[in-house]
Amino acid sequence: MPIEWNEKEQVFHLYSGRMSYIIQIVHGKYPAHLYWGKRVRVQQPSSILAFKGRAFSPSTEPTDPKFSLDTLPQEYPAYGNGDFRSPAYQLRSPDGSTITEFVFDSHEIFQGKRPLNGLPSAYVEDDSEADTLVITLVDSLLGVGMNLSYTVYRDLDVITRSVSIEHFGSHEVELHKCMSMSVDLHQSDWDWLHLQGTWGRERHIERRPLHHGIQTISSARGASSHQHNPFVALLSKNANEDNGDVYGISLVYSGNFQADLEVDPFQTTRLAIGINPFDFTWLLRPGETFQTPEALMVYSSDGLGGMSRTYHQLLRTRVCRGVYRDKPRPILFNSWEATYFHFTEKNLKDIAVAGKELGIELFVLDDGWFGRRDNDKSSLGDWVVNKKKLPNGLKGIADYIGKKGMQFGVWVEPEMVSPDSELYRNHPDWCLHVPGRKRTLSRNQLVLDLSREDVGNYLIETLTKVFKSAPISYVKWDMNRNMTEVGSARLSPERQRETAHRYMLGLYRILEKLTERFPDILFESCSGGGGRFDPGMLYYMPQTWTSDDTDAVERLKIQYGTSLVYPAITMGAHVSDVPNHQVGRTTPLLMRCHVAMAANLGFELKIDQLSSEEKTLVATQIQKYQQIKDVVCFGDQFRLLSPFEGMDTAWMYVNPDQEKAVVFYYKTLATPNPPFFRLKLRGLKSGEMYRVNDDDKVFFGDELMQIGLSLPLIKKDFASYLFQIQRLKK
Ligand code: DGJ
Repeated sequence: MPIEWNEKEQVFHLYSGRMSYIIQIVHGKYPAHLYWGKRVRVQQPSSILAFKGRAFSPSTEPTDPKFSLDTLPQEYPAYGNGDFRSPAYQLRSPDGSTITEFVFDSHEIFQGKRPLNGLPSAYVEDDSEADTLVITLVDSLLGVGMNLSYTVYRDLDVITRSVSIEHFGSHEVELHKCMSMSVDLHQSDWDWLHLQGTWGRERHIERRPLHHGIQTISSARGASSHQHNPFVALLSKNANEDNGDVYGISLVYSGNFQADLEVDPFQTTRLAIGINPFDFTWLLRPGETFQTPEALMVYSSDGLGGMSRTYHQLLRTRVCRGVYRDKPRPILFNSWEATYFHFTEKNLKDIAVAGKELGIELFVLDDGWFGRRDNDKSSLGDWVVNKKKLPNGLKGIADYIGKKGMQFGVWVEPEMVSPDSELYRNHPDWCLHVPGRKRTLSRNQLVLDLSREDVGNYLIETLTKVFKSAPISYVKWDMNRNMTEVGSARLSPERQRETAHRYMLGLYRILEKLTERFPDILFESCSGGGGRFDPGMLYYMPQTWTSDDTDAVERLKIQYGTSLVYPAITMGAHVSDVPNHQVGRTTPLLMRCHVAMAANLGFELKIDQLSSEEKTLVATQIQKYQQIKDVVCFGDQFRLLSPFEGMDTAWMYVNPDQEKAVVFYYKTLATPNPPFFRLKLRGLKSGEMYRVNDDDKVFFGDELMQIGLSLPLIKKDFASYLFQIQRLKK
């Protein structure tokens, strides 16, 4: 059993193949953190923690002045009894005090993993895949229990953590903060890394040294956000793609979050992630339970690459669900940049036919098909087909596409309402708002109040009608603004600060219902590109539109940064027209194809207006993608050269039995009189022979990995190469 309880020493040891996580209950009360890292055997767990009375560090234990919560490395710390660092939780009792005394009460260890009530989470398909420890702490004065859940996967170096707060007392309490996890690591000479950005340049990598005090990233936008992904990593100073210790923390949540890293004077690093406590409270009545979202904690001793491959496997196989989870996705065409709002049934048909000839498998009709939606000023909420554009309805165009041998998909933005819509005119109180205050618009729209069950039920039924109205096999679920005036007409004054989290619970309920009702629809989430690219959305929709920025050069950074956590199969990547609509840059069609082929390939351009030469190129690359997509979608990814460090980017994918690999290499700007360059590959079998493309020459795996693959001298900007690597049969 990979969770051992040493009662004498009061120590829990959780381990996977290559990782250990050790907790000790100190003084019979406090869960202390002993170790997280490479798998170890421990003979003397009680010698790990050292105690010393320190000035200004109070002791809760009268008989042990050396002990202080202020210096104890903890698992789920409080504020108010001696620890002056950032607490993992805070509760306000009926007397107005926020002082609590949660101490160890009991524990439970079992095989498998339980789902989280109302929230997305990692799962197991068989109980033998993982083991769970639940440590229960109780504050007997309040009559409140706190269950700290830890699940360790046997074959992945992953621990998932979450907390549930159970009220069995008699007076309501108010939660002010309730992080999903907190851990105090016995070291502080780390770098920390996170993914920052904005619309059009999401998930750029930022790495810097950790300093004393608190470093934070967060979102208060009502979405996980373009600005900060709900993920941070700690890295040993020497860590790079292949070597060094890396600790990743990611949150399975799509709303406001916060991640804190705090270094104290004794070089302990406190790392915590959870719902953003800013503007959040939750009233907990006797008999009620509050469940936090889940944190996914990954340890890698193989650098960032090792961390990413663990996240990729976890998210792809134990967070994403549904029939598409293990299937390569259809190559899609999306109408947005080809037509924007201006299309007719006739020109959609022409585009579809042109796409089919080149190998497109799924035709997606984006924004503009409903209400009076000729621009972004109206009609969100009125999910009724615009007969002027589509006289035969969605069914007419979908049937036509079906007859041509393609699947049909449609865009919706259900969480929003335009003030200029029938829905808003009939239900002005259905949006987030605060009575008497203005309703701030963004992209001319307001956010529906999904914390309300009636609004959620309305959406479920309305979308059910749309999805049943035609043979729809794909849905793009968009969300194009962040929340303002966050308040709900249905919640009492003391519950107003619950609105943002209740919104997420409402959204997850709607998604659960719809994905259950339409198991064969492939859902792709989107929020103005990648404004909600997080594990929470992936639980319902196994792919996300990575960014509205389709420029091939910008996409290198976006896809590289995204790949730190998210696998290629989850990233929508489209070939678009030039000059690029976001940055005005002109890149060759081949490079645009090669960038998009490194993820989930799609096209979003005037496909019917390509020259015959361009059509041939697209058709050829689509055929090539058909040959490589299994490896790209289900293989292990190795990042070889970073676009954040120069003009060269390279990454490769290797299938699980190391028999096939695909290498992509891109050069953005040419260097005059460049040196010869060999690209060192990864992930192959050292002693086996490999053929590169159809070349006569064959190489040993270690030859390609240690000496490298020779690249041509490049004398142009925006060059790209794709190498298919095949192991020779013995
Ligand atoms: C934002 C999305 O990211 C785009 O791809 C497109 O669907 C537009 N919304 C449509 O309004």
